[in-house]
Amino acid sequence: MGSSAAVLIFCSLICSVAAQAPVVTVEPRTATIHQGESVSYRCQVKSNIQPVQLEWRRTNNQALLDNVKIGPDGSVMTVANARPGNHGQYRCVAISSAGRSFDNAVLNVKYPPKVLTPAGPLRVTTGDPVAMECSATGRPHPTVTWTRRGSTLHLVTQEINNGHTLKWPSVRPEDSGVYVCQADNNVGKSEAEVELIVMGPPGSPVASVNTEEMTVTEGQTVTMECKATGSPPPVITWSKLRAPLPWKHTVADGVLTLTDVGRQDSGQYICNATNIHGYSEAYTDMEVDTPPYATCLPDQLRLQPGNSLIIQCLAHGSHPIQFTWSRMGRGRLPAAAETTRDGKLMIANVKQSDGGTYKCVATNHIGSSEAMAKVIIKGHLLTSQRD
Ligand SMILES: *[C@@H]1O[C@H](CO)[C@@H](O)[C@H](O)[C@H]1NC(C)=O
Repeated sequence: MGSSAAVLIFCSLICSVAAQAPVVTVEPRTATIHQGESVSYRCQVKSNIQPVQLEWRRTNNQALLDNVKIGPDGSVMTVANARPGNHGQYRCVAISSAGRSFDNAVLNVKYPPKVLTPAGPLRVTTGDPVAMECSATGRPHPTVTWTRRGSTLHLVTQEINNGHTLKWPSVRPEDSGVYVCQADNNVGKSEAEVELIVMGPPGSPVASVNTEEMTVTEGQTVTMECKATGSPPPVITWSKLRAPLPWKHTVADGVLTLTDVGRQDSGQYICNATNIHGYSEAYTDMEVDTPPYATCLPDQLRLQPGNSLIIQCLAHGSHPIQFTWSRMGRGRLPAAAETTRDGKLMIANVKQSDGGTYKCVATNHIGSSEAMAKVIIKGHLLTSQRD
C-alpha cells in the first residue's frame, strides 16, 4: 500500500511535468533602431514535449510586412531595412501538444520628420479668414514651428488634430509673404514653404518695411523705411505701439528717423499706408542695447568686527550683466568674502582688516561701469580711528 502511494505521487509528478506548455522567451525584449537598419529577435523555447511549432505575429493582429523574415526553424525573426510601419509589438507563440505560450518584444523605429503643408501659393482676399495647417510625421514625435521668411520670430499656432495651424481671422495685405513650417526631432529635420498672397480691391494699399527686426546701440541714429503700393498713392504715417513716437523723430518720404535713441525707445513701430480703398500696416521691432550703469547699495557701511557685511551691486542696462568685485589697492578680496551672480558681496564675520573701498564692475556686451562702496570697521575699543 505504501509503495503504491509512492508510485502514484511519482506518476502525478511526471504527469504534471509532461503536461506543461512550452516556456518561451524573446531576446531582445526591446530594440530601437533607425529607419533602414536591421534587427533580429530570437525566440527561445524550453519544452519537454516535442515537436514545438513557433509562430511570429504582431500583437495588433496585422500581417507582418514583407521585410520581416522568419528563419528556417522559426526561432529567429529578422526585420531588414526597417520602415516606420515595422514599429510596434511582436509576439512569438510556441505551440505543442501540451498547450501554447508566448512572449512579446517591442521594436521602435526612429525616422526623420516629414512636413505636410498646403501647396502654395495661397491666393486670398483681404478680410478673408485664413488657416494654414502643417502636420508632421516622424519618430520621436517632432516639434513643429511656423516662421515667416525674413523673421526669426516663432508664430503662434493652434494645434488641431495633430496639425499646427496658423490662423488669421481676417487676413490683411501685409500678411502676404512666405511662411515656413519646420519639424525637428533628434533624427533630422524637414521644412516646407507656403506663399500667401493677399489681394485687396484694385488700388488698395500694401505697406512694407525694409527691416522687421533691428537691434541698435544707445545713442545711435536709426532710420526705418516704409514703402507702399496702391492707387491713388497711399499716405504713409508712422506710430509706435502703445506709446507716442520718441520726441527726437522726423518723418520724410515714408522714412522715420530717430536720433540719439535710448532704452525707452525700444518697441514696435508701425507704418500705416492709407488711401481711399483702405489701409495697410507693416511693423519694425527695435531693441536698443545699453551699456550698464552700476551703483552700490549701500555705498558706505560702518561695521564692528564680527558683524556681517552685505553690499548689493545694482546695474541698469541690456542683459546679461556680469558683476566682478575687487578691493581697491589690494585687488583680491578677503578670503572669507563671497560673491553671487546677481552682484552681491558678502562677508559673514568681518575683521578689522576687511575695511577699505570695494569696487564692483558691471559688464555687458556693450560696455562696463564701476561703482564703489566704502567699508569702515570700528573695533569696540578703538575710538581714535579715522574714516
Ligand atoms: C491705420 O490707419 C487706419 C485708417 O486711417 C486706422 O483705422 C488704423 O487704426 C491705423 N493703424 C494704426 C496702427 O494707427
